[in-house]
Amino acid sequence: MSKLAVIIPAAGSGSRMGTRIPKPFIQLKDASILEHTIRAFAQVDNVKEIVVATSEEWFEHIDRILEKYASQVNRVGIVEGGSERQHSIYNALQKISSKIDLVAVHDAVRPFISEQLINECCEAASNVGGAIVAVPAKDTIKKVNSENTILETPDRSNLWQAQTPQIFQRQLLIRAYEHANRDKFLGTDDASLVERIGGSVKVIEGDRRNLKITYPIDLKVAELILDERGRI
Ligand code: CTP
Ligand code: MG
Repeated sequence: MSKLAVIIPAAGSGSRMGTRIPKPFIQLKDASILEHTIRAFAQVDNVKEIVVATSEEWFEHIDRILEKYASQVNRVGIVEGGSERQHSIYNALQKISSKIDLVAVHDAVRPFISEQLINECCEAASNVGGAIVAVPAKDTIKKVNSENTILETPDRSNLWQAQTPQIFQRQLLIRAYEHANRDKFLGTDDASLVERIGGSVKVIEGDRRNLKITYPIDLKVAELILDERGRI
């Protein structure tokens, strides 16, 4: 069984949410959003390491959360986040041990990831190099110019909305991040860094519950999902 490490970027400021405390630390029923996320991964058998990237003022707080799950994985760690998500992940990547086969990157603010999707993604990443969870685009996507005039309407049937986890063979992901760093390339997800060095990445059809808590409305949806789960 491949040994999996999980990098959880949690260093964002949450400007679209507009709350005083950053999104990962907002309470959702019995735990913070970040703790729900950590819990989801800690219960997966092949998860051996978890590294969270955040700002220094939250280190102690996260330490207390990680302590609770440390016995379920081999190693846990915290690193300082960067100004961009990509920089936060780069810092965390330096902490992953060489025993690890696969590295998953998963947003702190997607607490509803299922074990089945993590496993499917791991299997595909072991086979081809990388795999990400995504859902078919539900809205028609428009490409526009700087005046917002539509230039093009790409065929929706081949468009997917990338989510996380995004899982890669460790050495491939390290190489992708080193190249991006050297070229000062800033991507909006991890797969884009791997794609640009020629790595192969598969899409695994995910679940719309795996939402990224971004706007206040997403918090309301998250509470509904937890209520529903409690009833099952
Ligand atoms: N993130 C990070 N380091 C950054 C920016 C973002 O670790 N410099 C993390 C966030 O904490 C979040 C994940 O990346 O868990 C996805 O980012 P996003 O949803 O955009 O969160 P924020 O950047 O915090 O929100 P916003 O863009 O609204 O400011
Ligand atoms: Mg952001």
